[in-house]
Amino acid sequence: MPEPSASPDAHHEPARRVALVTGASRGLGREVALHLARSGHDVVVNYRRHADLAAEVVAEVEAEGVRALAVPADVADPDAVRALTTTAAERLGRIDVLVANAAATAFKPLVDLSADNVRRTFDLVVGGFVQLVQGSVPHMRRGGRVVAVSGIDSVRYMPDHGLLGAAKAAMESLVRSFAVELGPAGITVNAISPGGFETESSRIWGGSKFDVMKERFSAQSAVKDYGTCADMAHAIDYLVSPGARFLTGQPVVVDGGLTVNLADLDALHDATRAFEGGFALATGGDGAVGSPSSGATT
Ligand SMILES: NC(=O)c1ccc[n+]([C@@H]2O[C@H](COP(=O)([O-])OP(=O)(O)OC[C@H]3O[C@@H](n4cnc5c(N)ncnc54)[C@H](OP(=O)(O)O)[C@@H]3O)[C@@H](O)[C@H]2O)c1
Repeated sequence: MPEPSASPDAHHEPARRVALVTGASRGLGREVALHLARSGHDVVVNYRRHADLAAEVVAEVEAEGVRALAVPADVADPDAVRALTTTAAERLGRIDVLVANAAATAFKPLVDLSADNVRRTFDLVVGGFVQLVQGSVPHMRRGGRVVAVSGIDSVRYMPDHGLLGAAKAAMESLVRSFAVELGPAGITVNAISPGGFETESSRIWGGSKFDVMKERFSAQSAVKDYGTCADMAHAIDYLVSPGARFLTGQPVVVDGGLTVNLADLDALHDATRAFEGGFALATGGDGAVGSPSSGATT
């Protein structure tokens, strides 16, 4: 594993809160890292493959006047997660905020999934989340905050999202139990549950179908718009703030009112159908298929 890159001064006693964000090299994780830097957090930028992109995020975080540390780790690997949380605490002194954002899966109909697809998705989304919380909590103090990034596929059918939705549903169950276990220590545990939002990878993987879905999801939403990374990051900003001390154990749905609008179900049906059977846009060496909504692959 490559050495973590860092900007901390080894003799500096940390006064700022430290945030660990998984999958922070791009997409939502990158946006969250920048938001947390702007609100005065030192930030641990975890990534899996794209060291160059993680280095860019580190530079952007440092430009906000806080410390940044890029740490490569496959969150599906328990040993790597242990090393990630240990490195974060050793190099930055503490962990105050954990945002479990990294996710990847094979987007296929359930009947076509391999055992390996299922194992790898659950290792990352479920096992990785447990390991991250277990590794972070010993370095947290009162006021600690954990936020899991879930998705509305945890409670709603979306074509080819059955496996990821099941893993996210398990993650939300863990959020409830962790919240009760960690509440007495002054640590809150919540999830955000986004509808669709735009990332560079979701555009690449979705291709022309992305625009169709975006248009129809916007029409079906209450606010008549599609989500952005900033919309999700603002919700996380609140969940990690001191003022959110009484909010715990909850999935906070951030979908512009998409899932509460029963006014035009045909449009929503069309919006999701637009993607059905359309995911074989690219296949990795491991047979994983790209995501129309998150660009993730296993
Ligand atoms: N986009 C949407 O419409 C949408 C909707 C609902 C929920 N979500 C959720 O929002 C989160 C972020 O989505 P996104 O669209 O921003 O994703 P993305 O653009 O695909 O970015 C994924 C990030 O996770 C990292 N990653 C992937 N596998 C990893 C692993 N095993 N260990 C460590 N890091 C790993 C990637 O690192 P590398 O760059 O190094 O590979 C990258 O930084 C995910 O949890 C997703 O399920 C997204």
